[in-house]
Amino acid sequence: MARLRIFVIFAILYSCSELGHGEFTTPKTVLIDVPPQHPVEASSTERTTAPAEVVTTETAPPSTTSSTTTSTTTTPPPPPPPPPTPSPTPAPAPAPAPGPVPAPDQGTWHYTDASNNTCIVVQFAAQLDVKYPQGINNTLTDVLVNVPANATVTDGSCNTTEQWIELQWGITAGNVTYNNTLKLVFAANDTSKTYIFKGLNVSLVPQIFYNSTINSTVDVWHGEDWQTPLATSYRCSRSTELKLTGETSNVAASITFTKLQEEAFRNATNTSFSAARECGGGDVPDAVPIAVGCALGGLVVVVLVAYLVARRRSAARGYLSM
Ligand SMILES: *[C@@H]1O[C@H](CO)[C@@H](O)[C@H](O)[C@H]1NC(C)=O
Ligand SMILES: *[C@@H]1O[C@H](CO)[C@@H](O)[C@H](O)[C@H]1NC(C)=O
Ligand SMILES: *[C@@H]1O[C@H](CO)[C@@H](O)[C@H](O)[C@H]1NC(C)=O
Ligand SMILES: *[C@@H]1O[C@H](CO)[C@@H](O)[C@H](O)[C@H]1NC(C)=O
Ligand SMILES: *[C@@H]1O[C@H](CO)[C@@H](O)[C@H](O)[C@H]1NC(C)=O
Ligand SMILES: *[C@@H]1O[C@H](CO)[C@@H](O)[C@H](O)[C@H]1NC(C)=O
Repeated sequence: MARLRIFVIFAILYSCSELGHGEFTTPKTVLIDVPPQHPVEASSTERTTAPAEVVTTETAPPSTTSSTTTSTTTTPPPPPPPPPTPSPTPAPAPAPAPGPVPAPDQGTWHYTDASNNTCIVVQFAAQLDVKYPQGINNTLTDVLVNVPANATVTDGSCNTTEQWIELQWGITAGNVTYNNTLKLVFAANDTSKTYIFKGLNVSLVPQIFYNSTINSTVDVWHGEDWQTPLATSYRCSRSTELKLTGETSNVAASITFTKLQEEAFRNATNTSFSAARECGGGDVPDAVPIAVGCALGGLVVVVLVAYLVARRRSAARGYLSM
């Protein structure tokens, strides 16, 4: 009888500790604060004596150009005309004074397949930061590119194991429009009942790289990242920077998402998100009350059992003493 009680107590405590741990962590999600505005950086480096060093320390420039870039001090070149940012959303953004590229607007996109299944819904504001060698001296220069809120969904897939959505937005140079693309890929795992953000691919047209020798499309990508249970969405309102890898070593890029919410592997015709799982320790608010509740529950059980045992013993002793 006593052994059974102890076993029950241990079973309860063990299951509590398992629950408290939370199942899904997203260790690979990189959460950083909003990166400093580059125009501000450029103006401050002008005042310092070694501006190029600031640029080279924060990047990983190709070894061939690192020696030359430190010796050149150039005035910040005029960036290419920023892609027109629409404001169809009611949010009246205040005039972005600090730089020529305004903060990106949040857009919402979804992919619906031929059988009217809207399997992917994504929502975010995104800005690309691409460093590329500019001019005759190959000075490493930043170009900021916003993914406009009116980017169009050009393709996608509602496959059962891997789904993706492709956004496209144009920049106009002269009177010709050149199209950039951003592709988001998701993969489901039916064993663990989860899906992952498998990665993203970005293709940038050479017209973005003002005053450079880049003359063909630049492809950059980011690999596997967060994971979330099926039938839930992933939400991250904080700024998240993802490093992007490119096949051309002279280009270093990153993409910063804000106000992000994404869901794939949906079986729905509407475009509203399922319950969200928050990024970066979203488990904690759930795990803490569960752990506390279990500890208290366990304590109550222990006290109760101790009381019963004690009462029985004293009853037995009392019986004997008579
Ligand atoms: C997006 O908005 C910009 C400015 O509002 C406009 O010039 C551009 O044509 C729009 N693009 C699409 C695909 O609607
Ligand atoms: C999808 O929806 C459209 C209109 O909402 C309808 O005309 C079409 O028949 C639907 N297709 C299927 C496969 O249900
Ligand atoms: C390109 O950059 C170089 C320095 O890196 C500069 O001397 C040149 O004027 C620039 N050209 C244009 C068209 O801005
Ligand atoms: C594009 O602009 C060039 C001159 O800049 C002009 O000759 C040409 O006709 C224009 N094309 C169109 C389709 O408007
Ligand atoms: C799916 O999840 C299980 C359990 O977490 C794991 O062992 C398996 O490798 C995963 N499969 C894929 C294709 O990632
Ligand atoms: C996206 O990038 C990955 C590299 O991580 C590559 O294997 C894949 O083919 C790319 N997809 C597209 C559509 O470019």
